Amino acid sequence: MRPFRPEIEALQQNGITGVALPRLSDPNVIPLWFGEGDTPTPAFICDAAKRALDAGDTFYVNTRGRIELRDAIKAYLDDLYGIDLDPDRITVPGSAMLGVTIAAQMALSKGDHALITSPHWPNIESVFQVTGARVSCVRQSENDAGWNLRAADIIAAVEPETRCIYVNSPCNPTGWVMGRAEQQRMLAFCRERGILLLADEVYHRTVYHGDAAPSFLSIAQDDDPLVVVNGFSKAWAMTGWRVGWMVTPRRLVVQMATLAECFNTGATVFAQAGAIAALEGGEATVRQLRTQYQRGREITMDILGREPAIQLTEPVAAFYAFPRIKGLDSSRRFAEQLLEKHNVGVAPGYTFGPGNDGHVRICFAQSHERLAEGLHRLVTFVRDQAGGD
Ligand SMILES: Cc1ncc(COP(=O)(O)O)c(C=O)c1O
Repeated sequence: MRPFRPEIEALQQNGITGVALPRLSDPNVIPLWFGEGDTPTPAFICDAAKRALDAGDTFYVNTRGRIELRDAIKAYLDDLYGIDLDPDRITVPGSAMLGVTIAAQMALSKGDHALITSPHWPNIESVFQVTGARVSCVRQSENDAGWNLRAADIIAAVEPETRCIYVNSPCNPTGWVMGRAEQQRMLAFCRERGILLLADEVYHRTVYHGDAAPSFLSIAQDDDPLVVVNGFSKAWAMTGWRVGWMVTPRRLVVQMATLAECFNTGATVFAQAGAIAALEGGEATVRQLRTQYQRGREITMDILGREPAIQLTEPVAAFYAFPRIKGLDSSRRFAEQLLEKHNVGVAPGYTFGPGNDGHVRICFAQSHERLAEGLHRLVTFVRDQAGGD
């Protein structure tokens, strides 16, 4: 008798939650561990959701997302990338996370292989594990110029059973961005081999040069084996809203409606009203948040960049620093002791895939004073450790 699949029994708590859970709502902790800032969603977005509730928007709607929202997403993407996206390719199943889950289910079964560009956010690996597929990573390398991964490196790691390649650009936790030419190579390879390219572009607007990171949407054809996942959490400070979108091949319209219905029957209807407001009036918000994160990045580089025991290249995108701490052999122990002794929460590197146990991830989206205080305490802790404390 086996009521649960072995893949489910084998799931483990990720290292970020593992460290954070016991102190989650402790006001004494400076929380640099999760992927969000402390700025609430702007009032005009909240007001749109409140108006929807007051107007009685509390019923089932189109499972692929309200037509008005899908039209607004199309208009936004067309404008941002200079494309003419078929709105039928857009589905709003719930959060971006749900989009990743659905895409993984679309490609993978037991016996298949999934390839993840890494370091990677741990939940991504869990999503692939749940499908029963075997998962492996192809890791970016870091030099003085920053993090890098070529399409050729990814392609070299592909196996005969590979059915899905996950590319997260801009990357959580390194900020690595895949350039246009490399994207062309990846897409051509996946097209030729019939492998699903799962592009996670949730940090598309958190870039420190230009207005948006290159998107696979700019180069893809309607029926390419490509699923692009994106959402409202990061660019519009809407992490708690759980709304995101997927762009899938044209021919899967019916299947996407069915999948959306199975997984969540669409995103929460009044949250969709907030999402429409974000797209229609949120460009200033996107820019303000980016400016705030840019200052967070400067503060982080100022405080950590000068520390001899901390090796850190400046991230070009997203809102994380992923430094290597010299001599560190257990990022979990480091994160737990930093929390215990100095009330600062960071994410341990080991949870971002193999090869990262000498690193920690720091989210610099928090308000600047708190961020600086947290970083100073981290430096003190690193120095104490080096001094044998
Ligand atoms: C790389 C990556 N993909 C997907 C998600 C999920 O985004 P959401 O919270 O909008 O579902 C996150 C959230 O941190 C992320 O970092």
